[in-house]
Amino acid sequence: KPVVLSGCQPSGQLTLGNYMGALKQWVSMQDDHDCLYMIVDLHAITVRQDPKQLFDACLDGLALYLACGIDPQKSTIFMQSHVPEHAQLSWVLNCYAQMGELNRMTQFKDKSAKNENNINVGLYSYPVLQAADILAYQADKVPVGEDQKQHLELTRDIATRVNNLYGDVFKLPDPYIPDFGARIMSLQEPEKKMSKSDVNPNNFIGLLEDPKKLTKKIKRAVTDSDEQANIYFNPQEKPGVSNLLSLLSLSTGKSVKELEPEYTDKMYGHLKGDVAEAVVSLITPIQEKYAQIRADRPFLDEVMRSGAEKASERASVTLKKVYDAVGFIPKP
Ligand code: AQP
Repeated sequence: KPVVLSGCQPSGQLTLGNYMGALKQWVSMQDDHDCLYMIVDLHAITVRQDPKQLFDACLDGLALYLACGIDPQKSTIFMQSHVPEHAQLSWVLNCYAQMGELNRMTQFKDKSAKNENNINVGLYSYPVLQAADILAYQADKVPVGEDQKQHLELTRDIATRVNNLYGDVFKLPDPYIPDFGARIMSLQEPEKKMSKSDVNPNNFIGLLEDPKKLTKKIKRAVTDSDEQANIYFNPQEKPGVSNLLSLLSLSTGKSVKELEPEYTDKMYGHLKGDVAEAVVSLITPIQEKYAQIRADRPFLDEVMRSGAEKASERASVTLKKVYDAVGFIPKP
């Protein structure tokens, strides 16, 4: 089975964007892929986090993975910091990544513009840690949003460089970008993606949000101010309405093509009401399962323990190969 690796940052509460763009796809890949899904806590601290909130976000994220249908019997689920090989491999790869390459990473530019008083070295070398995450498991496919494509290219470049120097050390991973649902946009600023760490909470919908509160957020979502309040899908002309149609489509399983004619003579308010209802029906069962799982800490601990053990066993094989290749003496 092809090896798949992905993760979410515990930098806030997982959003509907994370669900539609990542978790939902991850669940569907479990049967015919060898999947590793992690909570990337090492990545999260590249932006300053409150320790107590980070701690809770890690457990909440793990419980949400499980509530959404990621199954520890089928997939390896773990906390990134529980598998030391990520940081160890990342150091080695730092020595094979060029500053010129990292300088071109648009996410670094965006994130450093937003965090002007904390442009730390970790934020800069974030894509190298990501390369280590992927290469440690010799992953074949990495499900990524459009915004992560550049990082995956870098991973391939670093892997190719190491392979050219030392022979076949790494397998080159391919991106896997779902055709539709790859990008859910912000509710108030539909030109940018929905992000869990957005300073304006009205921009995102958390998977654990109260149905009444999220309904209000959807009803207040920005629509488009052209003269005719027509409802059709065109992200350039009508970013807000198109985002609502995407959300409705992804929540109901109906295609946008099927949905469009249902709204020809309807008002924006009608669409928003339907989106809110569909999102609530989608996430209510997830929230119920989450509540059960989150209350069972021994179960969560066991998932983390066995996941980290399996992951570490695999990653250590690659790390050994890399240490041997660069000339380190194996520990006697
Ligand atoms: N809006 C989105 N639409 C579709 N997919 C999304 N993803 C994130 N936002 C959307 C996908 O979720 C996975 C995990 O992302 P992440 O948590 O590692 O980091 P991110 O992409 O930076 O997500 P956020 O919510 O925007 O986090 P912050 O605010 O902390 O930066 C990835 O597969 C991503 O594509």
